Amino acid sequence: MKYKTVPALPDARISTIGFGCWSLGAGSGWRDSDDAESIATVHKAIDCGVTFFDTAPVYGFHGSETLLGKALAGRRDQIFLASKCGLLWDDSRTTRRDLSYQAVIADVEGSLGRLGTDHLDLLQLHWPDHATPLEETARALRRLLDEGKIGAVGVTNYSVADTLALARLVPVSTYQGLYNMLERNTDSYHAIPLEYQAEREILPLCLERGMAFLPYSPLFQGLLTGRFNADSKFGSNDIRSANPKLAGDGYRRYVAVVDELRPIAREAGVSMTHLALAWLCRNPAVTSVLCGAHRPDQIADNAAAADVELSETTLNDIREVLETNNL
Ligand SMILES: NC(=O)c1ccc[n+]([C@@H]2O[C@H](COP(=O)([O-])OP(=O)(O)OC[C@H]3O[C@@H](n4cnc5c(N)ncnc54)[C@H](OP(=O)(O)O)[C@@H]3O)[C@@H](O)[C@H]2O)c1
Repeated sequence: MKYKTVPALPDARISTIGFGCWSLGAGSGWRDSDDAESIATVHKAIDCGVTFFDTAPVYGFHGSETLLGKALAGRRDQIFLASKCGLLWDDSRTTRRDLSYQAVIADVEGSLGRLGTDHLDLLQLHWPDHATPLEETARALRRLLDEGKIGAVGVTNYSVADTLALARLVPVSTYQGLYNMLERNTDSYHAIPLEYQAEREILPLCLERGMAFLPYSPLFQGLLTGRFNADSKFGSNDIRSANPKLAGDGYRRYVAVVDELRPIAREAGVSMTHLALAWLCRNPAVTSVLCGAHRPDQIADNAAAADVELSETTLNDIREVLETNNL
């Protein structure tokens, strides 16, 4: 494993491969996740030197945090623990954004209970809530920082303008956004319009301000592992069945690009998964690549990508394929 520190989090030793915990636990919404296997995956991640763990109340509708809390018993101090706030849901599990003062405080109190800890190392605002003034959200964040219940604040899926506006009210240390080889400046996630372009806007912003950049869906939900083909289908119990980019002609075009990347991985002597993750890790703006995994062998494989170095030739070959395909 390799580690990075960033000026905005000077005391944190952050593994370049992080663990995105959305798929932890039965009922996560990711096909066949299983509690015992999820706990073993968390332990394997720690054993492989992964320090950055990313979860959220909404993942598995409390399931991810509850499972992670169980798995971290006695090992909490070995990791940098990040959760989120601001996504609530109703009885039918339809989500809505709420970053009001009360909602932020209540979210964090709930997360601390489920995770079995007295503080989060990082609290991230999950999606912008344009109905709540930033000043109100910032008031809750300042209270949580003062009380020591959170160590730092981050945003995810924010525009540059809103990130900077919030940073004028409270220190913003991290940015988490959708970024992988095939989605470098994409405009949507699961049909939700995005208010940022990751490579063009956010990476330079993070470098300039000394903030951590945390790419999510680094494997394009598994597509960049090279395991899928044009006929792959996702079950109705799999969150990926709700991603329009993984269906129809658009999906087939992405699969064709992965097929063009395969020989580059072969030539470099690495797997497709390692090609995709090492391509992210080598970027100076990228701090911790938030890989999802639901089995110990997957997180061990992902962790090993931290030590893969890609040559200039390989990076040029990748660039050519992406540019030829307008990606
Ligand atoms: N801030 C946000 O709005 C936001 C949004 C989405 C995600 N996230 C964060 O980002 C994390 C990761 O994103 P993600 O889960 O969407 O996508 P991802 O990391 O791109 O893909 C995860 C999937 O790839 C497959 N996989 C992972 N490692 C593998 C390996 N070594 N070999 C073969 N297959 C492998 C697994 O698929 P199978 O299940 O098919 O085995 C796994 O479920 C989430 O857990 C969450 O923490 C944040």
